[in-house]
Amino acid sequence: MSRDLRIAVVGAGFAGQGHAFGFRNAQMLPALEGVKVIMDTLVEPNAALAETVAAKYGFERIASSIDEIIERPEIEAVSLALPNNIYIDVVPQLLRAGKHVFCEKPLGLNAEEAAELTRIAEEAGVVTSVGFCRRRVPALAAMAQVIADGGIGSVHTFRASYFADYASDPRSPRTWRFQKDIAGGGAVADIGAHILDTVRFLVGDIEAVTACQLDTVIKERPLPTGGTGHNQGASATEVAPVDNDDNAVVSLRAKNGAIGVVSLSRIATGITDVFAIEVYGDKGWAKFESPHSDEFYLCQPEQSAPGLDGPRQIIAGPAFPYFSDVACMAGRGVGTGYGENMVAEIQEFCAAVVGQGEVTIPFAEAIPTMAVIDAAMTSARTGTEVPLA
Ligand SMILES: NC(=O)c1ccc[n+]([C@@H]2O[C@H](COP(=O)([O-])OP(=O)(O)OC[C@H]3O[C@@H](n4cnc5c(N)ncnc54)[C@H](O)[C@@H]3O)[C@@H](O)[C@H]2O)c1
Repeated sequence: MSRDLRIAVVGAGFAGQGHAFGFRNAQMLPALEGVKVIMDTLVEPNAALAETVAAKYGFERIASSIDEIIERPEIEAVSLALPNNIYIDVVPQLLRAGKHVFCEKPLGLNAEEAAELTRIAEEAGVVTSVGFCRRRVPALAAMAQVIADGGIGSVHTFRASYFADYASDPRSPRTWRFQKDIAGGGAVADIGAHILDTVRFLVGDIEAVTACQLDTVIKERPLPTGGTGHNQGASATEVAPVDNDDNAVVSLRAKNGAIGVVSLSRIATGITDVFAIEVYGDKGWAKFESPHSDEFYLCQPEQSAPGLDGPRQIIAGPAFPYFSDVACMAGRGVGTGYGENMVAEIQEFCAAVVGQGEVTIPFAEAIPTMAVIDAAMTSARTGTEVPLA
């Protein structure tokens, strides 16, 4: 096949730059051989940021609103990385214009918005995908496969966490992430979306949030004074309230009967970004921690010689999902990281757009994860178990 694929990225902040990185490297996927991914337009209202990011990733044009990409049918595919409350306004316009859409997580403010976006996408008959990039970590994807194949037996419990310190400084500005009407939940929706999706990926669908605690430790923050993302300046005199959670503890019961806890913090001083999950079954256990993202630990006592039954460190390599399509040198132990995860998710999206495969995380797949976030917030408010539909 030989063809062009013109794309646009909407939002040039933290995650939008990740998308640009993904599109720039998408052609490493064999299914995209002969497909020329053209970085057509970067849509970003912050002109200075738009200039910098467009130059860095080689976009042909800059636009300040999506109107300019809607009116150009040659742009086939669009990715979005915006404050969460904007998706419900912007994504339907793109879908109805026939664009294939890759949207960041969380997919809107709640499950209702995710379902509405899914419905409109299905009506439009376009390809959709959601940025649950953790599913593209080769070691985590391989661990999911081992569990699905019964490698640790019947799963009965799990323990997961996501700790970060991007919000640990009380002097950092109250950006959109700290406002419930723009972001929805705090840690529970932001980093929580990733780890709750990972629980579903490894353990299965969730039957109920049995309990949840949400806590806002830093109750007010200075107003932003301009700039981008977490790097915005902060007012020395004016503050505003934070009305979503810094910390969360969510207790879950999966449909297969497994129970577990997910702990979250965005103010874990000194822990820059650590994402971890342990899954226990009746024949062993498996564990992943993001600072060692190219490995997982697998313990299968029945398959070990007597007395030599400890966990094995399994290193990612070409036998694992995604690895050969994203690694700069496709050799075991060479390593992959966040950038490669972004490449893998964008590769799959582009391949589906040009008819060379299916996406594994269409919009519909985000609805149950959004429902867990909603249920966690309800449980925290009511103090009761909240079953999922
Ligand atoms: N998958 C991941 O690992 C990951 C990481 C970070 C963020 N995210 C998600 O990405 C989204 C954006 O987060 P971020 O950290 O990049 O935020 P950010 O604040 O760094 O960037 C958002 C950008 O959107 C721009 N913007 C606002 N309204 C716009 C509009 N109508 N049209 C075009 N651009 C507009 C802003 O000017 C800003 O530059 C969120 O949904 C977040 O949950 C995902």
